[in-house]
Amino acid sequence: MADVDPASVADVCREVLSRLGSDPRAGLGSESDATRRDRLDSVQVGNPTRSAGEAGDLPAIDVVSMVVRIDSAGLSLDHKIVVERALLTELNRQWPHGDPTVSHFTVYFRRRVEQAAAPGDDAGAARSPRGPQPLAQRASTLGLRVDRRAIPGVRSVIVVASGKGGVGKSTVSTNLAAGLARLGQRVGLLDADIYGPSGPLMLGLSGALPVAPGGRIVPLERHGVRLVSFGFMSDAANPVIWRGPMVSKALEQLCYSTEWGELDYLIVDLPPGTGDVQLTLIERLPIAAAVIVTTPQDVALLDAAKAHTMFAKMSVRVLGLVENMAAAPCSHCGHVEDVFGTDGAERFAESRSLEVLAKIPLDRRVRIGGDSGTPVVTGETPSGAKFMELAELVATRTGARFNPILSHVPVAAVPAEKPAQS
Ligand SMILES: Nc1ncnc2c1ncn2[C@@H]1O[C@H](COP(=O)(O)OP(=O)(O)O)[C@@H](O)[C@H]1O
Ligand SMILES: [Mg+2]
Repeated sequence: MADVDPASVADVCREVLSRLGSDPRAGLGSESDATRRDRLDSVQVGNPTRSAGEAGDLPAIDVVSMVVRIDSAGLSLDHKIVVERALLTELNRQWPHGDPTVSHFTVYFRRRVEQAAAPGDDAGAARSPRGPQPLAQRASTLGLRVDRRAIPGVRSVIVVASGKGGVGKSTVSTNLAAGLARLGQRVGLLDADIYGPSGPLMLGLSGALPVAPGGRIVPLERHGVRLVSFGFMSDAANPVIWRGPMVSKALEQLCYSTEWGELDYLIVDLPPGTGDVQLTLIERLPIAAAVIVTTPQDVALLDAAKAHTMFAKMSVRVLGLVENMAAAPCSHCGHVEDVFGTDGAERFAESRSLEVLAKIPLDRRVRIGGDSGTPVVTGETPSGAKFMELAELVATRTGARFNPILSHVPVAAVPAEKPAQS
């Protein structure tokens, strides 16, 4: 297989950028040809590597990866999508996919501000009243440098992940969010599972999200939780069929273009898995901690291990595991039916020096709470109490400020701090 020359990739990209000057959707029309071409920051071409066929049933393939970095200054999300599409279309045309050469093209946008980050100033949670600012730049696992951006007004972002779908990630996210709200915290929930959004159903919300002047999204609120979900935007019968980069862009827009107000916690219900969408979001958000949800069965634990490895590689603090659908005694006869096995999470947690934060039994009231839009944590049942304990544990571990009175006072009514007298 012939090597791909980065210089010729760069030429193609510059050509595309200069051509986009005449496309009003790309937002580059006010710039000179030279300025547009100069937006290309760098091109990286991965050496062809022969990937091993998995389990003998997949043929080995040659992989070329290209990463193109573009200066994003002044480009809106819509502009970036147009630019990205034009670049990918042209790169795909010049270096077509297909065996034995499969190419991965990735376009990264980054503002060209070289800030010298102070030592140890990695993912601090500084906030800016003027909007998201690059917090710090750090080398990612892919060797690229990314900007972490705080969400204005949001103190702690907690991501809820699972390697596998259907283990109860959304159930845990919703109950954790409503539980934190019961503790007097101001809570938002971002239902980032674009392919299976269940936040609206589980919180009992429906309709379209209001849009504030200026195009910012306004969350809907119930049980003390402000929710933004793709479920409000897509039609239940028609699946979203976007590709990964589009999903990542849309998620970023939901994070940063929402009027969250002042939040103590933003809970992010991540899509299952450890793919590009998850990585992009994790790289971008200033995450205080992650919680991994699993069932006790081996197949779920295997995927939970992948999620844990992903967080470890990305230097995200993992608070621990939630074992969901754990064995529970039958409410009629007391017989313990361990549908998904027992103690799997404990063994796994021990092997990875992780804590089991909660064991939520397989309980029809949990399911009914989810289906009826009244999370079980809002009532008084044994499973609800378990979720409440989880919320308390998460709050204490992440340094929540327990001041229920203050936290319910509208932000504007809180007197500004007096400057220290010297
Ligand atoms: N502990 C539990 N007991 C009973 N049903 C549960 C429990 N946890 C989740 N469920 C149900 O299992 C289904 C899948 O859960 P969900 O939270 O949507 O999973 P995920 O978000 O991981 O795909 C839902 O119908 C939910 O109500
Ligand atoms: Mg879900």
